[in-house]
Amino acid sequence: MPERVAVVGPGAIGSVCAAAVQQAGRYKTVLCGRRDPGRITVANERTGEKTVLPGPVLTSPADVHGPVDWVLLAVKAHQTAATAGYLSALCDEDTTVVVLQNGVEHRERVMPLVGQAAVLPAIVWFGAESVASNHVVLRAGSRIMVPSGEAGDRFASLMHGGMTLVETVDDFTTELWRKLTSNAVGGLMALTGRPAGIYRREDIQELARAMAAECLAVARAEGARLDDTVGGELVDALAAMAPGLGSSILADRVACRPLEWEARNGVVRRLGRRHGIATPVSDVVVPLLAATSESG
Ligand SMILES: NC(=O)c1ccc[n+]([C@@H]2O[C@H](COP(=O)([O-])OP(=O)(O)OC[C@H]3O[C@@H](n4cnc5c(N)ncnc54)[C@H](OP(=O)(O)O)[C@@H]3O)[C@@H](O)[C@H]2O)c1
Repeated sequence: MPERVAVVGPGAIGSVCAAAVQQAGRYKTVLCGRRDPGRITVANERTGEKTVLPGPVLTSPADVHGPVDWVLLAVKAHQTAATAGYLSALCDEDTTVVVLQNGVEHRERVMPLVGQAAVLPAIVWFGAESVASNHVVLRAGSRIMVPSGEAGDRFASLMHGGMTLVETVDDFTTELWRKLTSNAVGGLMALTGRPAGIYRREDIQELARAMAAECLAVARAEGARLDDTVGGELVDALAAMAPGLGSSILADRVACRPLEWEARNGVVRRLGRRHGIATPVSDVVVPLLAATSESG
């Protein structure tokens, strides 16, 4: 019997994952959104391959027929609570919910919404963009990281053969915080409203290094094994990026949508306070991001 898969949040990441599931074959996929844009096309920029997703996109939990084996949750972190109706209709004790979001609190955010279902946090290491309401482009990378274990292995085999590559890792906490450090520093793109070229400025590099250092201090207090060299390497990598390269939080800023600031930056300040770690840069950046987000 084919496994039943639902993607909640068929935007950039959700659509790429739905395409990957479709390419992997053997599965029935349902897309759950808040509007139906028509059949969504996913283009892989590197290979030129195009995948058309099955429609329609459901627009209400009332349209869902029974629980599924897998839910791939790919809304922005601040949109998670609003998916409660879908999650309740899609989940039972045999469901695994894969949380494809940035941030480090996937389980805390989603477990209260899914009853007895299992929650598998995932780190997305690829870049995708919705270039039109029903057209998504996979720009770069293909990796998704999940914790080692039975659920991670099952997810890897679900996606096997598709356009994404699922990697299971033993020290998931370290990898979560590695990604968060990059996302936290990426908040500077949202604040300035400008792409990666800003990291070529020496003053921004200095700020980004200080931001990374406080994030890494909090990371270590949370059990991640990351030393301070990670921050310098990260800033060098950002400075070497194509100057026009953006990010999902910059795209939201440019479109005047609410920003995912709490999961990506607020968490550094919040957990820093819990551990008694000073986060002077985040203390300034976080309220500015929060206020910027209000314009959305
Ligand atoms: N894009 C990237 O390259 C990238 C890379 C790594 C990680 N991430 C992370 O992946 C996560 C998803 O990001 P994304 O870029 O894919 O976001 P996105 O393109 O904005 O997609 C979010 C999707 O969720 C839908 N949605 C919002 N509220 C919903 C609700 N209540 N019920 C059902 N659907 C709902 C949105 O619908 P509308 O179209 O109506 O808004 C949209 O289709 C974020 O945590 C992000 O930080 C993104």
